[in-house]
This record gives sequence, structure tokens and C-alpha cells, in this order.
Amino acid sequence: MAREYELKAAPSDAGGLIGESATTINRRQFLRYGFNTAAGVLTASLGMLGFAAILLPPGGGSGGDLAVKFWAKGREDSAWYGAQHLQSMTKSSFVEEAASSSTKTAGASGVWNGVPVVVMYVEHSKYAGTPESNGKARFQFTEGMDETGKYVGHFEDLAEADPRLMPSEDLVMVFGRCTHLCCIPGWQLVSNSFTEDSWTPGGGDDGGTKLFCICHSSRFDPTVLEMNTNRNRSTGATFNYAGIRRSGGPAPVGLPIIPIQMNGDVVEGLADYVDWYTYCD
Ligand code: FES
Repeated sequence: MAREYELKAAPSDAGGLIGESATTINRRQFLRYGFNTAAGVLTASLGMLGFAAILLPPGGGSGGDLAVKFWAKGREDSAWYGAQHLQSMTKSSFVEEAASSSTKTAGASGVWNGVPVVVMYVEHSKYAGTPESNGKARFQFTEGMDETGKYVGHFEDLAEADPRLMPSEDLVMVFGRCTHLCCIPGWQLVSNSFTEDSWTPGGGDDGGTKLFCICHSSRFDPTVLEMNTNRNRSTGATFNYAGIRRSGGPAPVGLPIIPIQMNGDVVEGLADYVDWYTYCD
């Protein structure tokens, strides 16, 4: 049974989040980023979900350094992957779980390189090319608008340049910090109308199967892949990114994708778009 959380109202003023010092990171630094982040900025917001114990070597547990690990701390008895806490994520685990879902989807919180992530499985290849209908979840590749409604671009513009941004083996992974105030959105951590096992096309707020941020109730649709724009809060520099769509709540934009590759059955993340994950710096 899903754990219940008391939701908080969204603050009216998100001031104070913009740091004073300029911060840029490269790929090597990102490999250490998880340690720094978990030890500092993240700890307070992660504590609610037990992510404070995320101070782990990126390669801890089974699998190699690139492998994504399940993260079920505190929910070992309630999450479907609870018994696999800190074990490498495998596609077969998601497929098995999705088989019992009416929408044939499954999602799980994880840790990769010491940072929180969420991985979703959508039985896309089965339904791609068929008419969209409620309940038959598949990925949708769309244009994106920024928080002011201004057109940013199309997901396929980015995916054409780097096909690794496309879901791999019907799996997609996103960086797990909310674009509102940097809390950790979960996948069906909380029983409510946004996380219930239902799906509708279009990326709107109707239907369930959403990532749900317990902090102020933002929702993200993991089946809608778009191009959007965000900014580094330390430097103020803006960047376009490929991500999943924000479907509701105070979060201004969606969550960025972390491209994945499969190593046999094991899900691995690729550290190629580190700037996309700096909006909480
Ligand atoms: S941090 Fe406020 S909704 Fe996620």
C-alpha cells in the first residue's frame, strides 16, 4: 500500500534560490556531483523520502558505475521494487511489474551517480502507430512551450541530433528533482488521482500515471517527451533540454531526461547532458 504524505501549499515566493556564485560542471565533475549534492543542498529535501542516505559510491551495489539502482529506502515493504533496493535496475523487472498494471506501465525511484532519478517503463512499442485511446499508454513526442507559453522547439529536433534521447527499450529516465523547489518527485508514492493507474493522451492533468511531487503537488507526465527550456540558478544561463512534460502544479517546466543505454538487461545512464541537471545548483 502506498505511503501517505501530508502535502504542503506552494510558497508564493521562491526567492533565495538563486545562488551568488557561478557554477559550471563538466563530465568529470558530474561524476562527483552526486556526492556533493547529496552531502549539501539535497539533504533537507531528500530527508522526507529517506534520500539523505544517498551518500553512496555511484557504483555501489550490483552492476557497473553506469548502472541505475533501485531506491526504496523506507518503502522496502510497500514499493514493488522494495526487495531490490540498491540492486541494478533491469528491464525485465519493469516488464514483470507492468504486466499487472491496467496501463502496462511501471515506474521506480532510483539512484544513479549518487543523484535521484525516476525510471518509467511504457509499453510503447506495442501501441506505437495505433490510434491513441485511453488506457493504452505510449510515448508522445511533441513540441514544448516554456512557462510563458512561448514555443521552444520539438523533442524530435533534439532526438534527431542525438537518437540516444529516445526511450530505449520502452524505458525513459529523468533527473529526480522537481523544477519547482527541487524536492524529489516520486512515481506512485502517494495514492491520489494523479498517480492512480490510468492513462490519457495529450499530457494534460486528466488521467493518472503521473510523477507526483509530494512537496506542493506538481505533476509530470512521463509519456510526453518535449523540448523545453530552463536555467542554471547559479549562473542564470538558460538552456534547452529534452524532458517530460509538466502536467500541473507549481513546477514551471518538466523534468530533464537522462539518456540511457542497455547493458544486457541492466539499465545504464549516460552523463552527457550535465548542464540540464543544474537548475537546482
Ligand atoms: S518542489 Fe514544490 S511541487 Fe515539487
